[in-house]
Amino acid sequence: MIYLNGEFMPIEQARVPVLDRGFIFGDGVYEVIPVYSRHPFRLAEHLRRLQDSLNSIKLANPHDDQTWTRLLTRLVELNGPEDQSLYMHITRGPAKRDHAFPKVITPTVFLMSNPLTTPPQQQINDGVCAITAVDNRWLRCDIKAIALLPNVLLRQEAVEAGCVEAILLRDGFMTEGAASNIFVVRDGVMLAPPKNHLILPGITYDVVLELAQAHGIPYQVREIPEAELRSAQEIWLTSSTKEVLAITRLDDVPVGKGTPGPMFAQMYALYQDFKNRVMRAG
Ligand SMILES: Cc1ncc(COP(=O)(O)O)c(C=O)c1O
Repeated sequence: MIYLNGEFMPIEQARVPVLDRGFIFGDGVYEVIPVYSRHPFRLAEHLRRLQDSLNSIKLANPHDDQTWTRLLTRLVELNGPEDQSLYMHITRGPAKRDHAFPKVITPTVFLMSNPLTTPPQQQINDGVCAITAVDNRWLRCDIKAIALLPNVLLRQEAVEAGCVEAILLRDGFMTEGAASNIFVVRDGVMLAPPKNHLILPGITYDVVLELAQAHGIPYQVREIPEAELRSAQEIWLTSSTKEVLAITRLDDVPVGKGTPGPMFAQMYALYQDFKNRVMRAG
């Protein structure tokens, strides 16, 4: 079952007008929230980021957090699996085609849930490969916008190279992945690029930094030049559905020893433990 504009229904019955500004202009924002044991993970943080995205595109939030929580809870119940991936999508709604905002706005609200597919054990054990690519996106990558054409093309480039992610470089510095944040380990220190307009403020990124802080893992938040990425001992990607995953080959060159490193093993264990604790606490 999905939710569309006030109603729960089978996805086959869901219809959106062709003049919806999401369809015409990509004029909307979204969220992806993992659900473990039927509990949405970091829901408050996801709803806060949704609010930030809506503010950035000057679209009023159609619901308060209580209503969102109620709708998402119902969607989780209706869909069944213990672990799910919730997708929230809000557009500026249908209107005569014109770039400027319509005077009267009826936003389109679409929610769906899919079974959560986290990376297979083999990827966790061995790591995955990534390519580098020029970050040719716009300068508001902090907005979780549904207009994802650059990200789509960049991820496709990675897949065509037999890899899972493209790590993006802008003006000689690493920004993030096509659909993930990137961490680097050098000389026993975990490095993360700063949150600014060039990257999406990842919810998983925040969890990893909190865990590093709580467990005394040395870390720095600072810009990461391309050369430091290429000579890193470890590279990780993070996202809500991929959690924390080691990148063990970059542009066909092994990262460090070419296997997931000791700091990855520590962070992976901390992340799983944190997730399980939060879920047990309800
Ligand atoms: C461009 C980009 N950066 C980072 C992330 C990771 O964000 P989160 O940890 O909130 O899933 C995503 C998630 O899909 C993304 O699309």
